[in-house]
Amino acid sequence: MLSQEEADSSTAALPYNMEEWEQGYRSQPHEYDYWIDEVEGQIPAELTGTLFRNGPALFDVNGQRIHHPFDGDGMVCAIAFNEGRAHFRNRLVRTTAFEDERAAGKILYRGVFGTEKAGGWLANAFDIKLKNIANTNVIYWGDRLLALWEAAEPYRLDPYTLETIGKDDFYGLLPPGKPFGAHPKIDRSRDKDNPTLVNFALEVGLPFKIAIYETDLRGTLKRRYTHNYCGFLFIHDFVVTPNYCLLFNNPLDFNPLPFLFGFKGPGQCIKFRPDRPTEVLVIPRDPAKPMLKIKGKSGFIYHHANAFEEGDEICVDSICYESFFILEPGEDFLKVDFPKMDPGQLWRFRINLKTQTMGRELLESRCCEFPVINPQKVAQPHRYVFLGAADIPEGNTPLQAILKLDLETGDRHLWSAAPHGFNGEPIFVPRPNATQEDDGWVFNLVYDGVNNRSDLVILDGRDLSLLARLHLKHHIPYGLHGCWTNECFLP
Ligand code: CO
Repeated sequence: MLSQEEADSSTAALPYNMEEWEQGYRSQPHEYDYWIDEVEGQIPAELTGTLFRNGPALFDVNGQRIHHPFDGDGMVCAIAFNEGRAHFRNRLVRTTAFEDERAAGKILYRGVFGTEKAGGWLANAFDIKLKNIANTNVIYWGDRLLALWEAAEPYRLDPYTLETIGKDDFYGLLPPGKPFGAHPKIDRSRDKDNPTLVNFALEVGLPFKIAIYETDLRGTLKRRYTHNYCGFLFIHDFVVTPNYCLLFNNPLDFNPLPFLFGFKGPGQCIKFRPDRPTEVLVIPRDPAKPMLKIKGKSGFIYHHANAFEEGDEICVDSICYESFFILEPGEDFLKVDFPKMDPGQLWRFRINLKTQTMGRELLESRCCEFPVINPQKVAQPHRYVFLGAADIPEGNTPLQAILKLDLETGDRHLWSAAPHGFNGEPIFVPRPNATQEDDGWVFNLVYDGVNNRSDLVILDGRDLSLLARLHLKHHIPYGLHGCWTNECFLP
């Protein structure tokens, strides 16, 4: 943690305005459908396909505020590109819970991060069903567009209209009510033309069960394997290599009583234990082999960039925090004290399978999150990492920039939207037939705090130079994850 003095001194020169940042978290209940006609620069003519993106969009139910943005109903945006033009569309995901609450005009479900029904603890005690908000990621796999939330089944959407089709069993593989993780990996390391989707799911219980699914593009199951785990698991993302899946189990204590008695959401019942090691669960993709547990120091991790094998070692690049931030009951997420929180930083972990040890080195100290790589490099050595980053090199701030890191030379490029712009996850799209890993485009959705609307910014992957800025007619609240497909879904 920063000392008070450091926190105060960094407040003096903040590259952003908190009121502008807060405006990016206004609910967006409207659904749009239009050709984007306000463009600065040039949309690359070769760009053909669709950018999909998901994130929470409603921060209230009929004026009743939700406690944490992660509890907000999901909204999927699609920006389709063809012949130098772009078309925008967005739709809220019509989950059962969303429809129930809309009909009732009030909050009916508790949220993982502390959203409660009106009426205090008495109205919430012993109600342990949580709301599937389908707000975390959106993937296009085979012929299915799926909105994902890690504690429940996916919702399928029509890729042209974004209308909600309904809960999806992922090609018949998911038993009713079973969860499906929000961070599937698309692995081309074994066969670059026939990728494999690898995803994990955490089934809560005594014991916890880790299920791994591997399918091809037709949704045919290649492998499904499960491992039991005695103890509590809180894992949002994972990594794959040609031979392993790796899950970092954050060192936490979990006391479910405040949740059961209606005082807190389950995500508020967690206590981070930096004094304890992280346990990395190394799961062979050969289902006949046992899971290894390797201990080492990490920090709190939400997201990984990638992993690859190198001799006896597996390298994993991840964003780590020195502490885990919890928004307590009664606190307002719009009033978070950024300078007082620990920044996310990019680390490389080396997990030695022979000695069963883990070491780590800091790759980037600047505050950053949402690390991505060229999607062709998943599970293989990567040279470049693209991240959402702070505009300033030290301290914790909202994300306002895109950072490109060259791990071979140490070179860095930074494109910043500060002081009035705020962004999130970059999405890297390789140029068709590119031979260089960074030859492609970086998409970046930026909230413009002066004009109260969002822009889609397209950067050149090689030097992060600005190619085009597409002005939307409205804002899109700060989102989470998305994907690109070369299929163009135009009306
Ligand atoms: Co995530």
